[in-house]
Amino acid sequence: MNRRTQVGIVGAGPAGLMLSHLLHLAGVDSVVLEARSRKYVEERVRAGLLEQGTVNLLNETGVGERMKRLGLVHHGIELRFGGRGHRIDLSGLTGGSTVTIYAQHEVIKDLIAARLAAGGEIVFEAGDVSIHDFDGPTPKIRYRMDRSVVELSCDFIAGCDGFRGICRPTIPAGALTTYDRIYPFAWLGILAEARPSSDELIYAYHERGFALHSMRSPEITRLYLQCAPDEDPGKWPDEKIWDELQLRLAAGAGWKLNRGVVLQKGITEMRSFVVEPMQSGTLFLAGDAAHIVPPTGAKGLNLAVADVRVLARALTDYYANGNRELLTKYSEICLRRVWKVQRFSWWMTSMLHRFGNENENAFDQRRQLAELDYVTSSRAAAQTLAENYVGLPME
Ligand code: APR
Ligand code: PHB
Repeated sequence: MNRRTQVGIVGAGPAGLMLSHLLHLAGVDSVVLEARSRKYVEERVRAGLLEQGTVNLLNETGVGERMKRLGLVHHGIELRFGGRGHRIDLSGLTGGSTVTIYAQHEVIKDLIAARLAAGGEIVFEAGDVSIHDFDGPTPKIRYRMDRSVVELSCDFIAGCDGFRGICRPTIPAGALTTYDRIYPFAWLGILAEARPSSDELIYAYHERGFALHSMRSPEITRLYLQCAPDEDPGKWPDEKIWDELQLRLAAGAGWKLNRGVVLQKGITEMRSFVVEPMQSGTLFLAGDAAHIVPPTGAKGLNLAVADVRVLARALTDYYANGNRELLTKYSEICLRRVWKVQRFSWWMTSMLHRFGNENENAFDQRRQLAELDYVTSSRAAAQTLAENYVGLPME
């Protein structure tokens, strides 16, 4: 079956859905093809911290209503080390910018609802998606729907299918340069029915490894602890997790972590990855399809949104004015910000994690503690952290 649209989008994650929404607002047609079911993508537990720029874009484009009602606005974070806590005043150091705690899958729900309400098309459970002819002007996406094979012709393809999608691997290897760093640890994360033990996020450096206290609502906490890259969550009964979190997060006598029923448990890989360029012919990569950041700075979702904001603007300019300049510069524009965000995520990860005996020595631990001491005692250093944390200006 042959079909046609202006922009074919592979993947209904934050990148694909936000792109389809922005294009719709600019009068550009798109079809989103997603391998999983609607239920799966709307319930997939991921991170949940939105930069100021992401929050502004969701509000400006009319999909921020629920976020405004349910999101938790934070003006600061806490760094804990040496058994003491140190607050970083994000809004005070950035002229008022904040971050908002609002789960990624809630953003997905809002974008899907907005697309469908506007008559937008999202094909869920699209099978065997493949992309073709993007070295020419009429690229095509083929996919299986029930028993029929559909060929969707378009002017452009947006590869928003994540790190393990099919779009990036379809680009001839010689055309791409990849930059990769895998960290010698991972995160064991839990979602728990427990009241947050602090009003703001806590990033803890501890000799036993990193720990993070985050949250989703006044009743639900989200917590992470550094573990081995191949850790088996089955070897972590709930009580063991709570005991370890209490140990690593404790600051000063009497600080107690609220415990509760663990709703979800999982391992998050720690990796920094970038592919250059982020485009090939009429195929444009965005989000995790082009780059991965370790979750320490909570930048994954925000970087995906920043990419598609540039791509939507470039495609809109093309359809409105026949101008290809922004399209030609898409990769260059995005990569400038991508590398700055990579730098910040690597820096936060390097400052807050134990790298294990073969990768560190006592000097490194002292250096990490000195870095934490500097960041929490120098206004200039705290400001650097704050401006990156709330989000660098979008290009
Ligand atoms: N065909 C169709 N859809 C696919 C295919 C395929 N072959 N492969 C993957 N997908 C879908 C996935 O099911 C997923 O819904 O593409 C979507 C990619 O979404 P994300 O992985 O969320 O990537 P992105 O939109 O770039 O958002 C990045 O998501 O994973 C988090 O931490 C990450 O926060 C970051 C954000
Ligand atoms: C989360 O709430 O899931 C979260 C918050 C901050 C991070 C990473 C994850 O740095």
